[in-house]
Amino acid sequence: MDKLIIRGGNRLSGKIPISGAKNAALTLIPCALLTEEPLTLRNLPRLADIDGFQHLMTQFGIATGIRGKRPEDFGRVVTFEANHITSTVAPYDLVRKMRASILVLGPMLARMGEAKVSLPGGCAIGNRPIDLHLKALEAIGGEIELAQGYVKATAPDGGLPGGEFDFPVVSVGATENAVMAAVLANGTSRFFNAAREPEIVDLCNLLVAMGAEIEGIGTSDLTIHGVRKLNGATYKVMPDRIEAGSYACAAAITGGEVFLDGADARDMQSTNHALRNIGVEVTEEKNGIRIAANGPLKATNLSTAPFPGLATDMQAQLMSLLCKAEGTSVLKETIFENRYMHVPELARMGADIETEGRTAIVKGPVGLTGAEVMATDLRASMSLIIAALAAEGETQVRRIYHLDRGYERLEEKLQLVGADIERVDD
Ligand code: UD1
Repeated sequence: MDKLIIRGGNRLSGKIPISGAKNAALTLIPCALLTEEPLTLRNLPRLADIDGFQHLMTQFGIATGIRGKRPEDFGRVVTFEANHITSTVAPYDLVRKMRASILVLGPMLARMGEAKVSLPGGCAIGNRPIDLHLKALEAIGGEIELAQGYVKATAPDGGLPGGEFDFPVVSVGATENAVMAAVLANGTSRFFNAAREPEIVDLCNLLVAMGAEIEGIGTSDLTIHGVRKLNGATYKVMPDRIEAGSYACAAAITGGEVFLDGADARDMQSTNHALRNIGVEVTEEKNGIRIAANGPLKATNLSTAPFPGLATDMQAQLMSLLCKAEGTSVLKETIFENRYMHVPELARMGADIETEGRTAIVKGPVGLTGAEVMATDLRASMSLIIAALAAEGETQVRRIYHLDRGYERLEEKLQLVGADIERVDD
């Protein structure tokens, strides 16, 4: 298994290309199930999770074709063609490796009238139940059964009627499943307290391009008038706001200056606000965002929240940055329980962080030192890389398959801006 070796201390400087958004891609790909016509997605990031999802799609009998890009380019163009779906089952073996597989439930149900998806099981950042996915699908007429570790959803003869659902908790995935099912329902559906993350806007924009009728895009109140058929489309995946925010933290902790090429500041207001409060200069430009950390870093208080609040997926990276900020910062994680697993690893590098329940108190600035570390989830792994870039000496990060799930060619991008990082066979 590979590991990353980072020798800290280099000031990052230059340009980092931002890839297509993983979390958008993972909800755009299953939209291929909604139409017999080809769906072509451009700017798909080359990531283990995307490969996994493509593999899952082929299990349903869907043809996929990769085109148009040389291996040295970032992103790729993939066409999915679901003119003949041969299986409606997402098996345990694939779902277990990739939680996002649950996102086939809604579109498969809507198109085929039935879908069977293995229950995803536990996850490193909390229980992550799927009850809201199921309740929302029931509300628009799906019948749900749980048996032998699978969710089986069926539609009444003639298809889903449509209906209303008020989400008791904002859920990105449940909103996505509900929207993907409702677009092919016979009637109108309404979703209240829907998630309005930029990835959901991206999903709705694709569905509209495919012929769906959706009102309220970008708000928490979505009205969807079902249509009989959707057509194919060619669509470019939005830039990854979490990847961009991660590299912003990486540059800032080294006192560096980088241009996040292709990042969209409109999706990153909370992260940019947090960075500015920490003392980082953030300049929004036409084709990206410039990050410059010339002065001292200051402590700040942060709380994660559904969009437009601060993304929980940015919490770990900002925490590493705050280890180098002057003063005491208080962080609150309101979305997931048990999302502080990077804290003991950061402590091994010299961080002064105390946690109590969902609160973390970070005291800084501390002198970070290299260590052997390993992380248990994607963003936690990135927080260790960020700390390592500012640490004295060498850090070895193990279990980097987490990073390969979500950061396209991480070490290459960091090398581009002067980081001393290499991937070696362990
Ligand atoms: C998505 C993102 C993930 C991000 C998260 C929150 C993808 C592939 N993943 O995950 O990176 O961290 O949004 O922005 O897009 N919940 C329930 N019941 C449900 C569903 C969720 O109680 O049926 C709870 C969760 O436990 C959590 C909260 O709702 O406390 C939010 O989770 P949710 O927005 O659904 O996260 P995901 O869609 O899984």
